[in-house]
Amino acid sequence: MSRARIMLAGCLIALSALAIVTTTSSAHRPVTSKFTFHQDIEPLFQYYCGGCHTTGGIAPMSLLTYSEAFPWAESIKEQLLAISMHPRNIDERYGAENHSRQMNPRQLDMIVDWASGGTPEGTPVPSNKNLQIQTEWQLGTPDITMPLDAGAGLSASEMDRTFVLELTPELNEDRWLAAFDVRAGIPGIVHDVVLYVLPEKSNGGSNPVPLVDLTSTQVLGTWLPGQIINFGSREGAHFVPHDARLGVQIHYRKTWRDEGIELRDVSELGLYFRKQEPPQRMQTLVLRGSGHSNSSKAAPVLISEPVVEEIVLQSVFPVMSASGTRMEISIEEPDGRQIELVRVGEFDMGWPAQYDFAEPVYISPGSRLVVRGWFTGRGVEPADQHISVWVDYTI
Ligand code: HEC
Repeated sequence: MSRARIMLAGCLIALSALAIVTTTSSAHRPVTSKFTFHQDIEPLFQYYCGGCHTTGGIAPMSLLTYSEAFPWAESIKEQLLAISMHPRNIDERYGAENHSRQMNPRQLDMIVDWASGGTPEGTPVPSNKNLQIQTEWQLGTPDITMPLDAGAGLSASEMDRTFVLELTPELNEDRWLAAFDVRAGIPGIVHDVVLYVLPEKSNGGSNPVPLVDLTSTQVLGTWLPGQIINFGSREGAHFVPHDARLGVQIHYRKTWRDEGIELRDVSELGLYFRKQEPPQRMQTLVLRGSGHSNSSKAAPVLISEPVVEEIVLQSVFPVMSASGTRMEISIEEPDGRQIELVRVGEFDMGWPAQYDFAEPVYISPGSRLVVRGWFTGRGVEPADQHISVWVDYTI
């Protein structure tokens, strides 16, 4: 896809040379934007994009210096207007704070204005941080670290592959997990890492471990580049029994930058425990649905889960199969009133993300958790239209 885009850019430049229209290079474009890179744009790129768009990061190019960023102006504008890149188009009443870092519309407008208005550089601002790829544990030394050695990575011809590992942390006593982090061996290919507690009786360590049915596990969280999964910032923590076996699904993905190169990765998982039992125990409920919506707005794939005791929602993690476009998660109260929680538009299954509610959401017994999902429907078997939502809650 990126190659196609680069070729297209080549054609445009060739055409513009003939027709003497403006080229995509900033040098030939009049400066119309009042925003400058160093003053206005750099801090946004650092905060919202730098977790991935840094030298050696999971994204194919760095956006952290002026000379690295401005050639991408057209593409940045395109991506942000289409909202196919982070941040995603979500809408929440409960002030969901998203790990994937959401920009507000004003910030988005500012970048688009800068990108289409001649990409002025401005003068360097010394207080802007010089971001590097994160190689240190961001929450300090973890209580336990374990190598994520899948014995592999991506061969020269592979672009994308997921491995499953089973780990025995040998805890000696029951523990409360407050946070976890991943230190990627090769940050350029570690796309996401799902951590879960395996059910008591699983396959007894058979090798290779099959891709798990995550509905039968206690999911602890999904790590994405540039973020830590920190339950400690909220009241709850996940209970991890002393003899727990942990499952890790590690997803490697290359971009065009690394095509044709063999990359072997050993990342590291760091676990942080609470000293004491927390006031609340975090539980995970996995909702699943499938069906067919054939793009009609009126006919979404629907999940409607009864809530039998009072629960407090802490976060949701929505995932759809490849043809998914849009998802809505709401509560239907016993009197039929609907309260919308999260709406994920322009669903990008390559970058699923967890949404933490800034305010806890109390759900009373007799309510239902309702999830609606829409799919493109074109050439897709109904059986391939799946939704799953991991719901973290406390009682
Ligand atoms: C979670 C990681 C991540 C974050 C955060 C992120 N990107 Fe990306 N971006 C990627 C990856 C990976 C690609 C390569 C395409 C792909 O595989 O999806 C990419 C591709 C792009 C491209 C297209 C490059 C091309 O090939 O045309 C642009 C432009 C872009 N990102 C801009 C941004 C901007 C601007 C931000 C911040 C507002 C941002 N991205 C935030 C990971 C990220």
